[in-house]
Amino acid sequence: MKQPNVPVELQTAFTAHFGAAAPALFVQSPGRINLIGEHVDYNGLSVLPMAIGRHVRLLVRPRTDNQVRVASLAHGFEPREFELGADIPPYPVGDWGNYVKAAVQALARTHVGLHGFDAGLDSTLPVAAGLSSSSALVIGVALALLGANDRTWDPIPLAELMAMAERYTGTQGGGMDQAICAGAVEGTASRVDFAPLRITPVPVPADWRFVVAHSLSRAEKSGGAQMTYNRRTVECREALERVEQALGSGGRSGRGYRALLAEHQPAALVEIGEQVLAGDLLKRFRHVVTEADRVRRAEAALRASDHATFGALLSASHASLRDDYEVSSPALDELVGIAEQAGAVGARLTGAGMGGCIIAAAPANAVGGVLDRLRAEFYLPRAPKGPLGDHLFLADPAGGATVIRLA
Ligand code: GLA
Repeated sequence: MKQPNVPVELQTAFTAHFGAAAPALFVQSPGRINLIGEHVDYNGLSVLPMAIGRHVRLLVRPRTDNQVRVASLAHGFEPREFELGADIPPYPVGDWGNYVKAAVQALARTHVGLHGFDAGLDSTLPVAAGLSSSSALVIGVALALLGANDRTWDPIPLAELMAMAERYTGTQGGGMDQAICAGAVEGTASRVDFAPLRITPVPVPADWRFVVAHSLSRAEKSGGAQMTYNRRTVECREALERVEQALGSGGRSGRGYRALLAEHQPAALVEIGEQVLAGDLLKRFRHVVTEADRVRRAEAALRASDHATFGALLSASHASLRDDYEVSSPALDELVGIAEQAGAVGARLTGAGMGGCIIAAAPANAVGGVLDRLRAEFYLPRAPKGPLGDHLFLADPAGGATVIRLA
């Protein structure tokens, strides 16, 4: 079997923390960019994410008792240790260890006879950047625990279980991130459909490039952004209920956005929304139904290698997230503007927003210009700490999470 390149620093940290006995498994769990379909997964609507070649990585050694011990190399992430079980008391809200507990508790509830593990952890993904470092951690921990107990796994049921599991941390998330992290196929983006969860790979043309640019402000999924995120999920439900009532689906209400979109054209739904909703609820509703339509058209453009149409849809998605969903920020808007002027076919915030990253789509022959302008106009004046490559990089379509047994 081909042995992976286990990063030396991770191996060293593992030994320093857990002693000389060798780890048995190496787990890699990717982050993602969402190409389009933002804030619609928790409304049951399809999304189009792509896993990227940056990962949460774990070196794992099985234990014979029920302890779970995880030591992270990242600064500010203190080691965490707890007992595996079906009812694990959480750490205080915002503690990174809750993502570990989330995965472990869910598996302890669904699998009999699991033992714990020791793991050293590091990440090549920026944290709280909207690139799904948290779901990458949840899936990575799940695979560590399953691998340490010689259990097999399938991406779809695992992603479904972990989407529910992650709510342990207090975010009422949809299932996009866990699905793409567990089920991505290299060289492709994926259309992810919900209820039931399905993952359909869509090849990314070889000369399409995706720039990721960080706004330098964090989008704390378990911090300040959580409240706004959870509020949006409630607003979407309220808007839906009112529209369903107005349409006289009375007794049949609660059928969801998907049923509405199957029965009405998006433009017709916007008109109905404008009659029965006002203020924030109208804006949220308009974003959801127009975004669902953009996802459908973007998938078609991707399949047809129609870069111009694809890019225009990305930019329209950003405008909707900025004006109707109100989850952008001045820095995200500025990055999008620079990328568009520099020759990107389109750009938008990716992930939940409120900080984090944008993606910009550009053909291979124009991407250098986009990177140059972002560097000069956004990053140079701000002089962020650390290598620029932590904030501004290209994302290639990567495969899903893997567990490799070390010889
Ligand atoms: C976060 C959530 C996802 C999704 C996005 C917004 O990444 O984890 O489920 O809702 O925000 O599209």
